[in-house]
Amino acid sequence: MNELPEHVQRNRALWDDWAKKFVESGERSWACDTPKWGIWGVPELQVGMLPDDLAGKDAIELGCGTAYISAWLARRGAHVVGIDNSEAQLATARRLQKEHGLDFPLLHGNAEAVPYPDASFDFAISEYGACLWADPQRWVPEAARLLRPGGRLVFLVNSWLLMLCMPPEDDIAATDRLLRPAFGMYHVEWPGDHGVEFHLSHGDWIRLLRRSGFEIEDLVELRPGADATTRYPFVTFEWARQWPCEEVWKARKRA
Ligand SMILES: C[S@@+](CC[C@H](N)C(=O)[O-])C[C@H]1O[C@@H](n2cnc3c(N)ncnc32)[C@H](O)[C@@H]1O
Repeated sequence: MNELPEHVQRNRALWDDWAKKFVESGERSWACDTPKWGIWGVPELQVGMLPDDLAGKDAIELGCGTAYISAWLARRGAHVVGIDNSEAQLATARRLQKEHGLDFPLLHGNAEAVPYPDASFDFAISEYGACLWADPQRWVPEAARLLRPGGRLVFLVNSWLLMLCMPPEDDIAATDRLLRPAFGMYHVEWPGDHGVEFHLSHGDWIRLLRRSGFEIEDLVELRPGADATTRYPFVTFEWARQWPCEEVWKARKRA
């Protein structure tokens, strides 16, 4: 019997299909050891996703995809585990591990229920992974369970503002108009087969993180650099230079 929640099953089928579109960017990111984040490649110096003291720490990437972030963590001395819901994404990750001579566990599974004991990790990270595609009511408490007291959770998602301004059609960029109600968003399904995403208001993130045992340390709104480009059609450079289209939440599990 398949016990995966329906949104996890649907997102698994979607990402097994989409995986081929992420091979090339995965290869590029594995080959580059200067972390850049989000759809505009904002430099680590501006974002501060990675703690300085990763060497010897236990880390997990929730929704690792091709696992280039896990590779960055491993090269910084972390004992890293990547979990992803798509076997096809993990196939790319496994091939790139071999090509780059890195070996760390890659689990095929749902980040809402990770097969590791409580307090196994010091650091959890997600970039458009579980933080976008898994149910926050499930994955955030699960991340809290997996982290040791004082452990850090960092994740990058589309900004709340962008979600309010994003047209439903594929390939049409956000405008400067509010196109959808803020209240009651949470579970989002775009027209066509785009799987199930989850988008929370800032208030909802704050309450959920705090209720799950985290203190929030920062919310970083990303701005692309003056010469940044993106392959994604849903937001223009002009828009993203004026308003944040991506945001990074940084939280620490209460001691
Ligand atoms: C956009 S990729 C994230 C990886 C990478 N940071 C990137 O931006 O390409 C999204 C990944 O989240 C994974 N994912 C979706 N739902 C998940 C879940 N419930 N548990 C674990 N991984 C999940 C997908 O399989 C997919 O590989």
